Amino acid sequence: MKKLLRLGAILNLLFISTLAHAATSSPFVIPIETSQKGLYVLVEADAQVRVCYFGDKIEGYDNIKDIYPVGENPEVSNTKRSLYPTFGNGYVDEVALKLTHADGNMTTRLVYDSHKVAKVDDNVTLTNITLKDQHYPLYVSIDYTTYSNENIFTQTTTIKNSEKGDIKIEGAASAYLPVVAEKYYLTRYYGSWAGEMNMTETELGDGITVIDSKRGVRTTQDGMPSFILSLNGEASEQHGEVIMGSLAWSGNYKLSFEIDNLKEMNIFAGANDFLSDYTIGRKEEFETPKFVFTHSNSGTGQASRNLHDWVRGYNIRQGDVERPVVLNSWEGAYFKFDEQVITKMIDDAASMGVEIFVLDDGWFATKYPRNNDKQGLGDWHINYDKLPNGIQGLIDHAKLRNIKFGIWVEPEMVNPKSELAEKHPDWIVTSPNRTTHLMRNQQLLDLTNPKVQEFAYNVVADLLTDYPDIAYIKWDANRHVGDFGSSYLAKDEQSHFWIDYIHGLYSIYERLEQNFPDVIFQACASGAGRVDYGSIKYHHEVWGSDNTDAESRIFINWGINQFFPSQAVASHVSQSPNHQTGHSSPIKFRFDVAMAQRLGVELQPKLLSKNDLEWTKQAIAEYKRIRPVVQLGDQYRLISPYSDTGYASMIYVDKAQDRAVLFAYSIGFHYRELYPTVKLQGLDRNKMYKVTEVMPNKNNNSGKYLYAYDSEGAVLSGDFLMKYGMKLNIIKRNQSAVFEIVAIE
Ligand code: DGJ
Repeated sequence: MKKLLRLGAILNLLFISTLAHAATSSPFVIPIETSQKGLYVLVEADAQVRVCYFGDKIEGYDNIKDIYPVGENPEVSNTKRSLYPTFGNGYVDEVALKLTHADGNMTTRLVYDSHKVAKVDDNVTLTNITLKDQHYPLYVSIDYTTYSNENIFTQTTTIKNSEKGDIKIEGAASAYLPVVAEKYYLTRYYGSWAGEMNMTETELGDGITVIDSKRGVRTTQDGMPSFILSLNGEASEQHGEVIMGSLAWSGNYKLSFEIDNLKEMNIFAGANDFLSDYTIGRKEEFETPKFVFTHSNSGTGQASRNLHDWVRGYNIRQGDVERPVVLNSWEGAYFKFDEQVITKMIDDAASMGVEIFVLDDGWFATKYPRNNDKQGLGDWHINYDKLPNGIQGLIDHAKLRNIKFGIWVEPEMVNPKSELAEKHPDWIVTSPNRTTHLMRNQQLLDLTNPKVQEFAYNVVADLLTDYPDIAYIKWDANRHVGDFGSSYLAKDEQSHFWIDYIHGLYSIYERLEQNFPDVIFQACASGAGRVDYGSIKYHHEVWGSDNTDAESRIFINWGINQFFPSQAVASHVSQSPNHQTGHSSPIKFRFDVAMAQRLGVELQPKLLSKNDLEWTKQAIAEYKRIRPVVQLGDQYRLISPYSDTGYASMIYVDKAQDRAVLFAYSIGFHYRELYPTVKLQGLDRNKMYKVTEVMPNKNNNSGKYLYAYDSEGAVLSGDFLMKYGMKLNIIKRNQSAVFEIVAIE
């Protein structure tokens, strides 16, 4: 069955201006602006449409029409900077659109058709520019949404087929953006399970650099559909011109950066065209994922804060709400638990001040009990041998302890050794006539199939209906596409799989959001598998990594925080030595790292020493106090763990600049060095602040060498704290300090 992709909400809005100029009219500029930034599109007299500029807003932008085209040689410049470059229009470089028309013609030439502007509210404006083929009834409709206060732009492109028959789309980018600078530095992500979100920056040379994923359904452990492009110099937190962009898509993605023969940078962002031809019939439309981007002239810090505000305001569930403290059972119990183990964990979690207990993998399946990862996945009935009083028994117990209850699911997957696989082999993604590649002993269910979508939806919906007190769902996904083939899709539609799967997934997320608006959803995806703006729209948070080692997490969280606010990054304190890395670190360090994000605990409480248990209780109480600033404040990253200082530090400041929380970590051994100086940011230079340390290490008071510090705290001006800074006694590896900074009258 053909999947009709949705046309954006733009059609439902009242357009404040609708224009359609004749191809022979004089040139004009379409401004697409936020409070500080502008993207300017020129419609030339011959109806060619070009992107002329993206950056700081220009007063008098209209003159653009008088000083274009830019090149000496029109034969070259006329093929540059089209709003949406297509194959067959003189381009010899990368293009945004490749398609075969109903009559077999593989070329497309687009010209201006019309444009419209609609104001959604004081902050949000939609601008639609529609292009049409010079010869065929084929339309390309480009929707820009601007978020004025956040200085965020989004772009979605819809291909509309009014031809006499099917057209085959061989690649349709969401967006094309040309940029001019002398030098271009690209920061991208790489990694793998338990080692995700490593950032690396390189200066780009001539030719094309591609960031992509072909993993299909869980695409961010080894990379990210997100990038930082720094112009003229390496990216810095506070200085320099950067563009940060991200594709809101959980499937295969492709971001291309091509420096052309004019030394201009051409950015293309979209779903990956790899084996992804998509055929649409007459009167059908194909809508691309959304590309989200912003610009900053004061470094990546400002660009990140733009993105954080936009995520909290528009692209995450309940972005203005603080997230509770979680205890997740996985590292404390793994598959080895019974009712007694879990009820004891609930008791301990409650006594620590934890707000939600989450029961992880292992609670289900009877014919093939899920006591390890080899069987039972897909059989979502309670294992009463393990839990004689079922889920309700645990919920009742949690209620007695005044703590909420959450549960783990992995609805997209199946173990071959399961009742589900026996009953519905046709629901499994497999390569016909091939042997199977298992990953974590499991296979992928085919979410292109509406029956499978219904099944996956019901895995969660049934739980939430049968147990209305479930407050939290952890949605796991422990493999990517390895085998390929859908018994649901027709043989000439197999290449639709990549797109249709993700739309199937999103339709489930969407229904769950609508029907269970109060339940918290975590995109776990094996740890950092769905750190993308497509998925987070339907969730409250991501699980940052299965690597819970605090030192590793400083790096991982640093990477995620470039695009995601701390509120959305689940970071848990686990046992020492750490189960993944074997590295030991003090309880203070582990808490100080996790408290900079959405704090959780992931250990067996009864294994904690008396002192560590006491620390845990106090730290959770302190976190609840500083949580509004950490989760909803502005993040300023002060010292990068990637610097060679051996330190990392960041500060959160509330919007009123009245409260701030500073985090600082030592991640190396420092031999007879000066104490590190951290210059704060984001404070009001004219305010006086009281600085007190949150849970100092009793044996090694981190604030001891801060001038004027005593146990009552120091009073210092915002100006002093930002210019002179603070000096901290954190010298040994894995020492850390947290300071609360509060404005006084
Ligand atoms: C991978 C997740 O990331 C872990 O937190 C845990 O839920 C396991 N799967 C359970 O199988």
